[in-house]
Parts: sequence; structure tokens; C-alpha cells
Amino acid sequence: MIIEEINTEELHDLIVIIKNVHGFDFSDYSQASFKRQVTKVLQLEKLSAFDLRMLLTNDPLYFEQFLIKVTVNVTEMFRDPLFYKSIREHILPYLGSYQRLKIWNAGCASGEELYSFAILFAEANLYHRSFFYGTDINLDVLKVAKSGIYALNKMKQNTENYKESGALNSLSKYYTAKYDAVSIKHSIKKNVLFSSHNLVSDGVFNEFQVISCRNVLIYFNSDLQNKVIQLFYDSLANFGFLCLGSKETIRNTDLINRFKVIDKKNNIYQRID
Ligand SMILES: C[S@@+](CC[C@H](N)C(=O)[O-])C[C@H]1O[C@@H](n2cnc3c(N)ncnc32)[C@H](O)[C@@H]1O
Repeated sequence: MIIEEINTEELHDLIVIIKNVHGFDFSDYSQASFKRQVTKVLQLEKLSAFDLRMLLTNDPLYFEQFLIKVTVNVTEMFRDPLFYKSIREHILPYLGSYQRLKIWNAGCASGEELYSFAILFAEANLYHRSFFYGTDINLDVLKVAKSGIYALNKMKQNTENYKESGALNSLSKYYTAKYDAVSIKHSIKKNVLFSSHNLVSDGVFNEFQVISCRNVLIYFNSDLQNKVIQLFYDSLANFGFLCLGSKETIRNTDLINRFKVIDKKNNIYQRID
């Protein structure tokens, strides 16, 4: 059987089942992207939409694997280096006067973004008073994030990114290499915690000075984007920073009025009351 593409009706049916059976709501995800991911699963596993419907209804373990397959987890250290350059220039100097700093990386995937933040904070001599939280819905990538172990062949690109971000050292200062893998050093990992959090259904869990959420909102429709930005607003301390990166912006006028724009290109905002 050749599966061309799941149709809109079948997709809607799956979304309802996933919501009713597993309590997980995909209805505000961008339909085009979700459709692409589900079609990929059908094609790889040679399933019909009906087979998938049965599996999602009757096999709770299958749902966990499905969730892992339909989320896009591409990431790298210092991805979009100019974003990190901007953090160095605009945010870190401002944070110097704080006694305690809490940083949340929402949709952290396998942790490279959060470790990049931890390195920036270490280089600005802020690490010892900072705590870093990384969250995602995908439990598989969170395991990689917690281990802090990455393929050695990824480090070339990571190192180039790091240099372009305004590197103060050699990236190898922050990891140890063994055979074909590298392991992030304890000095960078010790104030870092990864856990599961769903931006669609879970609420505020702390008050942060910095929240970074990049390459996640692009998968949501505009209603869900607004809901999540409201969640970030509520999770920020006053004058805290929201970092969305170059692909995502705050479009809703009510929401944008509650932030000061710090860097328009990299979509870095500061909460104002
Ligand atoms: C493309 S990755 C982005 C990784 C990293 N932020 C970066 O920019 O390199 C998107 C991540 O968002 C996560 N994600 C998708 N929906 C989510 C949700 N509802 N709550 C939390 N994380 C979610 C995915 O599991 C995935 O790891």
C-alpha cells in the first residue's frame, strides 16, 4: 500500500482521538506541519490512517513513540550565532546586579541550546548564581539532554557557531571527548535541570529572569502562539527577558504592548509592567 498523504478529515479524526484518549491537544498545532509529520510516520511504518487510529486508541506505549516521531527536534549548540551575540551584548550586562538568576529554555530538545546559555553565563561570570531549566514534551530528547553527551562529529559546526557568537575561549574547554562522543563538563552541567513540560497544557512553574523559546512557536497556530506568549509573560519576573529568535515574533498588539523590544531582528523582548 502506498500512502500519499493523510487527508484533512483523517487528520482531524486523529487529533480528536489523541485528545480524548491521551489528553494531548494537537488542534492548535500548525496543521500543515503536523500533517507532514503524521504522513512521514505512516509512510515509514507502512500504516494506513485507520491502522494509526487503532494503534493510538488501543496501545498507550505506541502513543509515546508517536509523540517522539511527530515532534521536530533539530538543534545545535549556538544555533543562529548572532542571536547569542545579542544575548552577550544586550542581556548579560543587565543581569550583573542580580543575586539569583533563573533561566528557562522551553522546547529545549536535546539540550544544546540550554548548554549554550550556560556557557555564556559562565563566561560572563554569572553561572554560580544562575539556575537553568530545560523543558520539552519529548522524553527521548530529554534523556540526551540530561546525559549531556553528543556525537563528536557535531562539534565542528557547534564550534563554528560558538566562534561566530563572539567566543571568549575554545569550545573544547567545556567538554571532554572520548572516542566518537563528547561529554559536557560538570562545571556547566551542575546548575542545569531538564524536565518534561507541555507548553499547550501545563502552566507557569517558576519566575524567570530569562526565557528562551526558539524554533518551537513556528509549529503552533497564532491562537496557541498567543497563549504560550501569555504563559511566558506570566512566568517572567518584571524586567525579565523573553528570547524568541529570528523566526518568531510577537504579533498580537495587546501582548507586544507589555514588552519593550530589545533586539527586533532576534526577537528579544523585556517584560515591562
Ligand atoms: C526544532 S526543536 C527546537 C530546539 C531548540 N529550541 C532550538 O532552537 O534549537 C522544537 C522542540 O519543541 C518541542 N515541542 C513541540 N511541542 C511542544 C510543546 N507543546 N511543549 C514543549 N515542547 C514542545 C519539540 O519536542 C522539539 O524538541
